[in-house]
Amino acid sequence: MSAPLVIRNATILTVNAALDIVEGDVLIDRGRIAAVGAIDAPPHARVIDAAGDYLIPGFVQTHVHLCQTLFRGYADDLALLDWLKTRIWPMEAAHTPSSLRAAARLAAADLLAGGTTTVLTMETVHDTDAVFDALAPMGLRAIVGKCMMDADDAVPRRLLEETQASIDESLALAKHWRDAANGRLQAAFAPRFAVSCSRELLEAVGSLSREHRLLVHSHASENRDEVALVHERTGRRNIQYFADVGLAASHVCLAHCVWVDEAEQALLAERDVKVLHCPGSNLKLASGIAPVTALRARGVNVSLGADGAACNNRLDMFQEMRLAATLQAVREGPGRLTARDAFVMATREGARALGLDDEIGSIEAGKKADVVIVRRQGAHLAPDVDPYASLVYAAGPADVRTVIVDGVPLVDEGGATSWDTREIVDDARREARALANRAGL
Ligand code: GUN
Ligand code: FE
Repeated sequence: MSAPLVIRNATILTVNAALDIVEGDVLIDRGRIAAVGAIDAPPHARVIDAAGDYLIPGFVQTHVHLCQTLFRGYADDLALLDWLKTRIWPMEAAHTPSSLRAAARLAAADLLAGGTTTVLTMETVHDTDAVFDALAPMGLRAIVGKCMMDADDAVPRRLLEETQASIDESLALAKHWRDAANGRLQAAFAPRFAVSCSRELLEAVGSLSREHRLLVHSHASENRDEVALVHERTGRRNIQYFADVGLAASHVCLAHCVWVDEAEQALLAERDVKVLHCPGSNLKLASGIAPVTALRARGVNVSLGADGAACNNRLDMFQEMRLAATLQAVREGPGRLTARDAFVMATREGARALGLDDEIGSIEAGKKADVVIVRRQGAHLAPDVDPYASLVYAAGPADVRTVIVDGVPLVDEGGATSWDTREIVDDARREARALANRAGL
């Protein structure tokens, strides 16, 4: 284990329950935050002077697809169902362990450099071990789900699974990777969405997720055609259908929830289902603007994610915070979702969505040391009078100075400490070209 680390003289946005902003120091020891405030550095401690900088909790992106990072630029200007059928599924079907590794490394390098320290990610149907293997040495904290798809004629044959095989593979991943990499890696169930899963599969995931205490990560009510399709097949509104099959509960994380009516919103609140809001993706796929203000007013935990690089095309949490706030200004009126609200959604509420609120999401003694130093010197931030407004409306990934996960600096002075970003980018370009060829794109 490395020597203790002291970060000195920062403006600390703790995102604790009182949202205290503290001028001072943080002591990190054995991967955890040992103290916050004025600290006498222990002998042999490494000291980082963060005078004039912000120290914030690492961002928690609760909806991404690392495997789609190689698809960036290959799938633009389409709406959800055509986008899936003509681009995403053929490209996912063309993935190999080597292209998955390249995609996961590219995504992790980019996410970490931009201050994201934890993700909930839905990968593709096959070879999810390759994603875990790629992430383990990079240091990103991740809950990874192998995508489950056992229904739907529009799916390429390689992605269509037998129901039991899909469940067995998900359980095998969960067993193999439980608490891997010092607890940084975990598996989740990831039924893709109601359209590509059978009722038996969803019911089995509902009961097995409780039995094995695993999160469930899915997409729901993102697009009007998707909602209509689910209604046609099941006779139910999408969220009601999720409730019917046992998937309306506090360990269920549903991306999007753009088209949820009043009764569904009430159900999400009553069952403490976690909503994963993806404003950048919702704009680019022309999905709509989610009723985030109304959901939050009902007490629903709403967190943020960039979704995949195939529908965003950035993996930038600063952008998602800014869009979350500004889109609600358009939908509901200015100030209905403040910069501070967006920042809390990006950190503390992300941790709560993943059931990790005792471990991450704020800067408090005892929590894991997942923290980010953000520079305040840029002209684009001045005069920088309100920390939340600066970080949400003006700052970006280029302002990230240092990123620490589990007490380990993975990015320092803007550069990676343990991987070669140039090599990762070159490998990703090669793998993306070969993958597009295999997919016939
Ligand atoms: N719905 C089902 N699959 C997907 C996916 O890969 N991305 C998005 N945005 N929505 C989906
Ligand atoms: Fe998605």
